[in-house]
Amino acid sequence: MFLSAPRLSKVLQLTLAVIKPDAVAHPVILEALHQRILSNNFVIVKCKDLVWKRQDSERFYAEHSERFFYQRLVEFMSSGPMRAYLLAREDAIHHWRELMGPTKVFRARYNSPTTLRAQFGLTDTRNTTHGSDSVESAQREIRFFFPDFRAEEWMEKEEPSFRSGQMHYDHQKQIHELSTQN
Ligand code: RTP
Ligand code: MG
Repeated sequence: MFLSAPRLSKVLQLTLAVIKPDAVAHPVILEALHQRILSNNFVIVKCKDLVWKRQDSERFYAEHSERFFYQRLVEFMSSGPMRAYLLAREDAIHHWRELMGPTKVFRARYNSPTTLRAQFGLTDTRNTTHGSDSVESAQREIRFFFPDFRAEEWMEKEEPSFRSGQMHYDHQKQIHELSTQN
């Protein structure tokens, strides 16, 4: 008889998270956000700092081109450095959006005071973080930020090892890596 059944764990899901220019401008806030990613059990598969040109911003947010906030958003997102994360976790898309909180910072502070946008957001535009909102948008956005990443290959070859915990956090690279077995 098995005294303890092996824990059944769900397959890891990938999502794209961005720390927006308002937060990257403040190193202490950026570090706090990085720690929140780690303490919420996300696997950091990739992490990169970058600056968008205006055209990148327009292309990424094309779906919002008819909205009143589009120009403001496009300008803000190309106004300074940002940080993109490729994250993995069970239900990563949902969990990251839950951790971010509501789009509108005032609403976040009122209704979800422990979320990232409530704690660090400045305005409805300068709201600290971005997160993919569906499997389809995660695929598109991961390709946008990490064009060399092969998601299917990662799911097949690396996901099972990450899921079973055969990994360590590399403090210098600030990402998780698979632990080599001897
Ligand atoms: P995100 O795409 O950044 O993860 O945020 P979201 O899904 O919660 O919000 P979405 O509706 O996709 O809007 C994208 C970004 O546009 C800016 N925004 N400003 N009322 C406003 O001024 C307004 N509404 C949206 C925010 O930066 C939002 O994150
Ligand atoms: Mg969105």
